[in-house]
Amino acid sequence: MSSGGRTVATVLFLTGLITCCVAPMCFSCTQKDFGCNDPFTLPNTEAITCDETCVKMRGDRYSDSVPIVEVTRACIGQRDDGCYNTTYNSIFVEACACNTDYCNASPPASSAAKGALLHELHLVVSAAVCLIHNAVGR
Ligand SMILES: *[C@@H]1O[C@H](CO)[C@@H](O)[C@H](O)[C@H]1NC(C)=O
Repeated sequence: MSSGGRTVATVLFLTGLITCCVAPMCFSCTQKDFGCNDPFTLPNTEAITCDETCVKMRGDRYSDSVPIVEVTRACIGQRDDGCYNTTYNSIFVEACACNTDYCNASPPASSAAKGALLHELHLVVSAAVCLIHNAVGR
């Protein structure tokens, strides 16, 4: 491997390590907290350390058949980046999990928007690093 290639591999490995194994900073707030809804306005200093994964959940709560958007940001157990549908607090929500610092601040990037090769590579490397980490760690 050329030294440039090795540098890229090292950087990917290290960022994979960070993505995989360091508890991310996430926002934890609900509808009732000012600035928690979209547009999100809480500063990074309001974030907490989650053990595993950050999530943002968004759904409509109907009040006299008027939909009111309800947003919750929180920590959840380990989950790969991506969105899924579920129910939370008795309403249907779309939840988007992510694993990097402050990532549950903004609306989820659509899969089309983050299709860069480097991102894909990063995910593969993160997964590999997780496997190694888990194998070594127990
Ligand atoms: C969740 O459900 C909505 C509405 O039914 C749908 O448009 C969306 O694609 C679903 N999202 C996922 C990640 O399945």
